[in-house]
Order: sequence, then structure tokens, then C-alpha cells
Amino acid sequence: MEEHKDVLIQAQDITKEYRIGKNTLRVLNGVNLEIDRGEVLIILGPSGAGKSTLLHILGLLDTPTSGQTIYRGENLNKLSSKQQAERRNKHFGFVFQFYHLLPDFTALENVMMPGLIGQRTSSQPHKKTCREKATEILDIVGLKERIHHRPDQLSGGERQRVAFARALVNEPEVLFCDEPTGNLDTKNSKEIQDLMLKLNALNNQTFIIVTHDENFARLGKRRIKIVDGRIVD
Ligand SMILES: Nc1ncnc2c1ncn2[C@@H]1O[C@H](COP(=O)(O)OP(=O)(O)OP(=O)(O)O)[C@@H](O)[C@H]1O
Ligand SMILES: [Mg+2]
Repeated sequence: MEEHKDVLIQAQDITKEYRIGKNTLRVLNGVNLEIDRGEVLIILGPSGAGKSTLLHILGLLDTPTSGQTIYRGENLNKLSSKQQAERRNKHFGFVFQFYHLLPDFTALENVMMPGLIGQRTSSQPHKKTCREKATEILDIVGLKERIHHRPDQLSGGERQRVAFARALVNEPEVLFCDEPTGNLDTKNSKEIQDLMLKLNALNNQTFIIVTHDENFARLGKRRIKIVDGRIVD
């Protein structure tokens, strides 16, 4: 019997080129990819292969030179930049290797930020809801006792968990993670991996993860490899 498939994202013939003086550098060379709802997709490949570029294009942080991304039946590359920003804020979450937390704000404030930006209203009831949601998510990632710490008062693993909480607070359908454990020791790395699998199982969220960590890669249900801007088997 054929397995039921629920395609969430289709990347169609994606290329990315950069002009360097008179030369053209082709970084992505016709990437085709289908990602199902609830999937944990691991992207592997050597340095410079185009992994981050692909992740950024799929997540609307960058534009392809040609090709398109279909998300829930909609061509994302045909949307206005305002609509793209809306999709990015409401549907997508991002986690990077170096956390990118705001240094002058507490864990709680960092996690509240996407909610405040998403609504463009600073009304007290809305702020209260954001605060409650942020507190709840920080509890889920195990940081209940650390919500008033600033990033410099947290360990590396704790900072990455704050970054995850921030990525999750708007309940995104897709989480894009670029080497989320690249800067962590084995123990913290394992904790982050367990957290991601827990969230995936709990909320059926889709994870697209670039990683060099072999142990991590083995946990993913599906792995693809990118070499020289192409998916290889
Ligand atoms: N703005 C840019 N202009 C020109 N070339 C770029 C630009 N951004 C990236 N590149 C090139 O594109 C290629 C792919 O970069 P990308 O960051 O996607 O690689 P990666 O697979 O994520 O590598 P790593 O594992 O080291 O993070 C690299 O060779 C890089 O030098
Ligand atoms: Mg990269």
C-alpha cells in the first residue's frame, strides 16, 4: 500500500547565482525537493556546497535566481514582499548556529519579540498574552528558572534553547535550523536534538535541519546530501 503523503513544500528547479566581477558563480544548480508535513529532513554536505543558501531561499530569507518554492500550494516567489514577510513571521521559525539573541534583553523579552513584531500593537492585553506564551515556551524548553537572565548570563546550550523558544513562539509550521548544535558540546547538543524530536512528535512541526553532526543526522527520518549545488544520493 502506498504511504499517505502530505506535501508541504516543493522546491522546483531552484538555482542561485552570484556575479563576481565578470564571472558568475553558480551556487545552487537546479534543486528539486519535496518535503512532507511533519517531516524531519536532514541536509548534509561539504562546506560551501550551498546548504545555507538553500535553507535561506526555502525560508524566504533570500531569493533564488530562478525556480520557485511552492508552500501549501502557493508560489512563495510570486508573493509581494509584504506577503512574504507575513509568511515568514507566522509560518516559519529560524534557528542558527550562533543564536542571534538580542544581548540587552532577557530570555523572556527575546522570546516575546516575534509576538510583539507580528502584531504591530503595543496594547497591554496583547503584551500580556505574549508574555504568557513566552513563559510557557521557556518552560517547555526547560528554562523556567532562567527567564530573567540576559544571554551573557546563560550557557551556550541555554542560549540555544532560548533561540528555539523564540523560533517557536508564533507556533510556526516549519522550523529551519542551520547547524543548530554546531556550537555546542556533546551533552548540550544531545539535549537540543531530543528537544527537537519531542517538538516534532508533539506538534507535527516540520523540521529542515542543516548539520555536520553525524549523530544528529542519524536521528532524522530522511537525509539528503548537497554537493556543488545539487542534491546527490
Ligand atoms: N553573497 C555571496 N556572494 C558570493 N558568493 C556567495 C555569497 N554567499 C555565499 N556565497 C558562496 O556560495 C557558496 C555556498 O555557500 P553556503 O553558505 O550556502 O554554503 P554551506 O553549504 O552552508 O557551507 P558551510 O557548511 O560552510 O556553512 C559558497 O562557496 C560561498 O562562498
Ligand atoms: Mg552554511
